[in-house]
Amino acid sequence: MTGGASGMGLAICRRLAEEGHRVAVLDRDGPGARKAAEELEAAGHRALACETDVTDRAAVERALAEVRDRLGPVEIMVTSAGLVAFEPFADISPDSWNRVIEVNLTGTFHCVQAVIGDMLAGRWGRIVTISSSSAQRGSPRMVHYTASKGAVIAMTKALAREYAAHGITANTIPPSGIDTPMSRASQASGDLPGSDVMTRAIPVGRLGSGEDIAAACAFLCSDEAGYITGQVLGVNGGAVI
Ligand SMILES: NC(=O)c1ccc[n+]([C@@H]2O[C@H](COP(=O)([O-])OP(=O)(O)OC[C@H]3O[C@@H](n4cnc5c(N)ncnc54)[C@H](O)[C@@H]3O)[C@@H](O)[C@H]2O)c1
Repeated sequence: MTGGASGMGLAICRRLAEEGHRVAVLDRDGPGARKAAEELEAAGHRALACETDVTDRAAVERALAEVRDRLGPVEIMVTSAGLVAFEPFADISPDSWNRVIEVNLTGTFHCVQAVIGDMLAGRWGRIVTISSSSAQRGSPRMVHYTASKGAVIAMTKALAREYAAHGITANTIPPSGIDTPMSRASQASGDLPGSDVMTRAIPVGRLGSGEDIAAACAFLCSDEAGYITGQVLGVNGGAVI
């Protein structure tokens, strides 16, 4: 689980652990990852914290080697580590563009590629990428972010086709309006409107929670979702239909 120290990644870690999975919490926030793994272990689950920046290929491979050693071969990869950015298109520097692509897209590539061999060997695998509704509808001042998440959606579909015959599914969840530290920080900086304004734009009439994402993710990771692959499962309160 990448980005497992916070927000929806943390909620997904809790949910997958409750469902009996051993959970590796990969996050560049080492203390946050350790806190999450300790919480899971205290609740009687098997968990491991790996302080890892998903943009660092060697670090990802080291982390996954430790995961294999301590928890066994990897059957599920959920990628939630992400970097949000709001800048007018004309002001996006090449460095900013590259950083957003590096974390959101290349980081996803590194993490999925690092575990695909385990899934092929086991003839079973579940890949769930966390993309974004901004890629479905196009969001102003987020051209870099939107491009990175659109590429994650496309990448997930291509993975689904490439590995469908091997018992491996790949699906993506593009969230919208989920109350997490990331969205709160964007509200605090004035890049997103306040919760009351956001709520009015959501047909179900509330913000989403990490648990809403975790429930969909857990289903996609289950055995009974084996006939579902290459799909874009919006968890957005009806904001994108
Ligand atoms: N909150 C929303 O409404 C929303 C909407 C659309 C998409 N998303 C996407 O959902 C995902 C999770 O977001 P969240 O809202 O839970 O945010 P969050 O900030 O609460 O959690 C993101 C986690 O990713 C980690 N992370 C960031 N860069 C990393 C890196 N380079 N290597 C390893 N870990 C890294 C952070 O340390 C953090 O723990 C992100 O990919 C985000 O783009 C969120």
